[in-house]
Amino acid sequence: MERMETWREACLVPLERMKRVSDAMLHKMDVGLSETGTNLPMLPTYVTQQPSGKETGHYFTLDLGGTNFRIAYIQLSEQVSKVELRREAKWNIPKENMEGTADGLFGLLAEAFKEFLEQLESDGIPLNRDKIVLAFTFSFPMDQNALDSGKLLFWTKGFNIPSCVGKDVVVLLADAMHRSGIHGVVIPAVLNDTVGTLAAAQYFDETAKVGVIFGTGSNAAYVEEIEKIKKMRAKDYHSKHMVVDIEWSDFYTVELPIMSFDRKLDGESLHPGKATFEKMIGGMYIGEVARNMLLELIGDNILPAPSPQGKIFLATNDVIGGEQVAAICALQDVLGGELVALTERLGYDDETIKIAGPVIQEIMFLVSCRAARLAGAALYSVLRKTGRVGGVTTLPTVVAIDGSMFEHHHLFRKELCKSLAELVGPEAKNIKLQLSKDGSGLGAAIVAAVADLGAQ
Ligand code: BGC
Repeated sequence: MERMETWREACLVPLERMKRVSDAMLHKMDVGLSETGTNLPMLPTYVTQQPSGKETGHYFTLDLGGTNFRIAYIQLSEQVSKVELRREAKWNIPKENMEGTADGLFGLLAEAFKEFLEQLESDGIPLNRDKIVLAFTFSFPMDQNALDSGKLLFWTKGFNIPSCVGKDVVVLLADAMHRSGIHGVVIPAVLNDTVGTLAAAQYFDETAKVGVIFGTGSNAAYVEEIEKIKKMRAKDYHSKHMVVDIEWSDFYTVELPIMSFDRKLDGESLHPGKATFEKMIGGMYIGEVARNMLLELIGDNILPAPSPQGKIFLATNDVIGGEQVAAICALQDVLGGELVALTERLGYDDETIKIAGPVIQEIMFLVSCRAARLAGAALYSVLRKTGRVGGVTTLPTVVAIDGSMFEHHHLFRKELCKSLAELVGPEAKNIKLQLSKDGSGLGAAIVAAVADLGAQ
């Protein structure tokens, strides 16, 4: 079991290694604020005002970034920090639209939007069809030079539509709306989901300074002083601050515990050579990491050989999902639930399950711990960058977090909090990791409202 020992050592990422990963990220953050084209892009978002909670108005939001997209109609109340009305609908994105054409993807969004507007009207909600204000959450890296425009830099997660790269996604969406016969749509803001998550949290709490997604993909945004974003030419802002979208998906340092199974996963992925960090911490990949580890253990006879059907099953990409990894980690009884379901797919009999079950559960535990501890190191870098930790005292700070890994993977969440406590020390009690469920949609409405107020 020498191999298991090596994996334990790497996946349980010791404190010193987490610190080195964090130092490397912090250094790359500084470089990214001055230079373009690095693997930690540090993207200016043109979100310069922190919401006060006093924003009002009604807005539509469209949130695209994972395996489904959401459209919402949100009314912000006259009362401070109060959402008056929120109507929401969700659609799955067929795989062919994730890898097809720009018209296919944006046409799908526009048609759903049309359906949504009609539904609201038939429910008796009056709409001003001459001016439909829509804030667009687009959860991919964008090169922005204004709040209402963003050129896609590269696709991540399960998306790959080469013709969109370099295009302004606001224009693509607006054109699709026209083609679908929806007129009067104004898109005042396009933002990343991390930026929306942060804005939503700030609407309720001014100490929110960091927005994070630990979901299918992963990333964070934080409030930076404009003066420090050296690569930005225009500096004549009324505000001193701007939210920066870090885009850590592609972050790389030699300190990352990259193993043989990571390289295999990368080679078989939709974006080989990209998203190194996300492939170690994202919910889209964690099951694949585990599957590749199991394949290695079987290849080396550390785990018993599966049945012929089981072999075919395990050789298939994405048969183990993030939810399954989370469920297996949470099992008290190794011989129950999702673990038995998985071992049965491998064709193991009851006796074999008794031997293999604990090993498989440990694999799920190791991939989850590695993800959590690397995520903790990344979060620590962002907190140091904001100056909220690392000074004489740690300032009370809310870190708003959304995403399935944080919400549903209890071991991941527990280990993330633990790793942060190790890194920050006793003052970690001042850092509140707060679930901001579906915050990015609400945040988009708030960012649009802030822009509206500024324009008046
Ligand atoms: C994207 C980010 C996004 C994150 C979470 C990553 O794959 O590059 O822009 O914020 O996923 O959705």
